[in-house]
Amino acid sequence: MAETSLSRILEKVTSRNQLSGDEIIYLLQLEGDDLKQLLNQADRVRARMLGNKIHLRGIIEFSNNCRRNCKYCGLRQDNLALPRYSLAAEEIVAMAGQGAKLGYRTIVLQSGEDYYDAEKIAWIIREIKGQTDSAITLCLGERDYQEYKLWRAMGADRYLLKLETADPDLYHNLHPDMDYQQRRERLAWLKELGYQVGSGNIIGLPGQTEETIVQDLLLFKELDLEMVGIGPFIAHPGTPLADFKNGSVAMTLKTVAITRLLLPLSHLPATTALGSIDRQGRQQALRAGANVVMPNITAAEYRSFYQIYPAKICINEQAVDCRRCIGGIIAALGREVAVDCGHSPKMV
Ligand code: 5AD
Ligand code: SF4
Ligand code: FES
Repeated sequence: MAETSLSRILEKVTSRNQLSGDEIIYLLQLEGDDLKQLLNQADRVRARMLGNKIHLRGIIEFSNNCRRNCKYCGLRQDNLALPRYSLAAEEIVAMAGQGAKLGYRTIVLQSGEDYYDAEKIAWIIREIKGQTDSAITLCLGERDYQEYKLWRAMGADRYLLKLETADPDLYHNLHPDMDYQQRRERLAWLKELGYQVGSGNIIGLPGQTEETIVQDLLLFKELDLEMVGIGPFIAHPGTPLADFKNGSVAMTLKTVAITRLLLPLSHLPATTALGSIDRQGRQQALRAGANVVMPNITAAEYRSFYQIYPAKICINEQAVDCRRCIGGIIAALGREVAVDCGHSPKMV
């Protein structure tokens, strides 16, 4: 019986890209062979819609300063044990150049919610776009409309702004100094400005339930996101959530797979967080609907200070090591590295 309803749900979502809340709950509870069937279906949809190529996004973590206090995050302002750094604009452009040399056709500029000068960011974007043929993704948190507009005008292509949870109460519990509606508004601005927009959630957040994950998935669909980042919660000792359990690999994979079925053309990263709690985590995600990896290109001396969560991978490696490592992972999966920028196929 169970199998017939599973087949029916998978058939329906594959042809119509829609699921009800109850159907999502059913999929989130799958185990064993049924779970494998879900992940395999997501893998097939990925192959059919996007092919065999994996997009590499080289990420520069250019500042770990943050004015926020997200309860789960090691970069939160109240974590006084963390030494803070902020790279000069010229250093960032040089790192992007190295990333482009390694073949990364997208450079991701990420920081905590720093007050990094908007004009400097604009200059960095212009330089990178002038010196390389890479696309630029920004991941700088909540800023003003005019700043988003300026960066877009300078050539930034994409923006990542994770909601972490679509449940307003849970959002406010985890982000005492932030506002859910304000974040939603920014996602709308970014879309309006013509960015390819990414968001996403964290799986296993204290207080999260299957119902709130359903809300997350339905919102990804409603927002018709170009990119969705889904990673497990990893308890950081320097935060108020130090004593909670990590998120589960299986629940993270299920959420990635369901996202692939709901949004067949979206770009879904096999997240570094998933690779950090399980050595095969990224590989498993790449076989469950994911088609993107975000190798680190931050200079080695800064990496250990970007400790969003503990036991983060790639802390002792250099950019070239990660390129080689990822190349090996992709080859072992029988997949290929994409050579184009990997813009959202919805946009072309
Ligand atoms: N575990 C997992 N992911 C985390 N992030 C922040 N803290 C944690 C944590 N403890 C993720 C968030 C954030 C990104 C920078 O890292 O999704 O958007
Ligand atoms: Fe700052 Fe982002 Fe961490 Fe929140 S998740 S504390 S905004 S770096
Ligand atoms: Fe950095 Fe594997 S991707 S070491």
